[in-house]
Amino acid sequence: MKIDGTPYRAVWVDEGDRWSVRVIDQTKLPWSLDFLRLATLRQAAHAITSMQIRGAPLIGVVAAYGLALALRDDPSTDAMERAAAQLAGTRPTAINLRWALDRMLTRLRNTLAGQRVAAAYAEAAAIAEEDVEQNAAIGRHGLPLIQQAAEAKAGAEGTTPGQPVNILTHCNAGWLATVDWGTALAPIYMAHDAGVPVHVWVDETRPRNQGAALTAWELGRHGVPHTVISDNAGGHLMQHGRVDLAIVGADRVTRTGDAANKIGTYLKALAAHDNKVPFWVAVPSSTIDWTVSDGVRDIPIEERDATEVTTVTGRGTDGQLATVRVTPTSSPAANPAFDVTPARLLTGLITERGRCEATAESLQAMFRDRA
Ligand code: MRU
Repeated sequence: MKIDGTPYRAVWVDEGDRWSVRVIDQTKLPWSLDFLRLATLRQAAHAITSMQIRGAPLIGVVAAYGLALALRDDPSTDAMERAAAQLAGTRPTAINLRWALDRMLTRLRNTLAGQRVAAAYAEAAAIAEEDVEQNAAIGRHGLPLIQQAAEAKAGAEGTTPGQPVNILTHCNAGWLATVDWGTALAPIYMAHDAGVPVHVWVDETRPRNQGAALTAWELGRHGVPHTVISDNAGGHLMQHGRVDLAIVGADRVTRTGDAANKIGTYLKALAAHDNKVPFWVAVPSSTIDWTVSDGVRDIPIEERDATEVTTVTGRGTDGQLATVRVTPTSSPAANPAFDVTPARLLTGLITERGRCEATAESLQAMFRDRA
């Protein structure tokens, strides 16, 4: 997608040395656009744990490149298995991480040590390219939902022609969370680029503010109209008919269609259900965990540091970044980072193969070769 007219991706191999890995430092957005150079396994693992890069598909791709970086130092089987285990331990909820590492190991275990570095870069690049293609396909399959909503609005009594379709999204499932396009935002970018009037309600997504900081930034840089709202505003807007549909991403979807996504997604799905607002989850197949059937019981939920809840970081009127405490120093805080939305609350899933119901039967029918 574009930053002020220039196309970017969220990860790429350095054009100069052709081996180090470049990413956008997402902890610096929206205040500054800084690029990081990852040259070692440790740096790649740190980028994931510190959330310099985040978002389920991007975590998987950076982990794949992290393994390639590790193999540059030591291509032996022992070192490779240790590096993969280290990367797999960086974040627990997004299944894309394990999926990407499993795919890398399947390829590399059958490759001679002397050829492993080249094979690892090739496989990581293939995963990255497939991510872009899959997200573009998700965009194409989600686009009709927005077009239909626009047509319904244009034909509805009492509406002014050309009124935008209002879409609510939670967290950041845009191009910053993937290699390009994003998942939930892909249909929105496609609608905007096709001239369908859209407006996005961007949940701020406390405690780390991925909505306020990242989604708002990338939509703004691409020129998509949007409004940041507090996490508590969505239900109210839905009650007043100001949300036409919701589209979110996911970090793991069970084979039965339960979806784990950023904390707060479940509450939005409940409000959408109560107000008959269509609620879609956009995911590539690498986000589906075919081994798990009960999301609430079986998906591990990351617990992050309480300081993410007790503090906020922003830019002061003096232009300097500051982190301030917002809770009493004596109050403990808890920070579960994801929640699970049961399949029954979802209108459906948007995948690279098309849209389907969030049920075991529909998912199996769409992904017979995987399920
Ligand atoms: O903790 P994060 O920022 O990695 O969480 C990201 C999300 O919850 C996204 O919605 C999800 O990964 C889908 S990304 C296309």
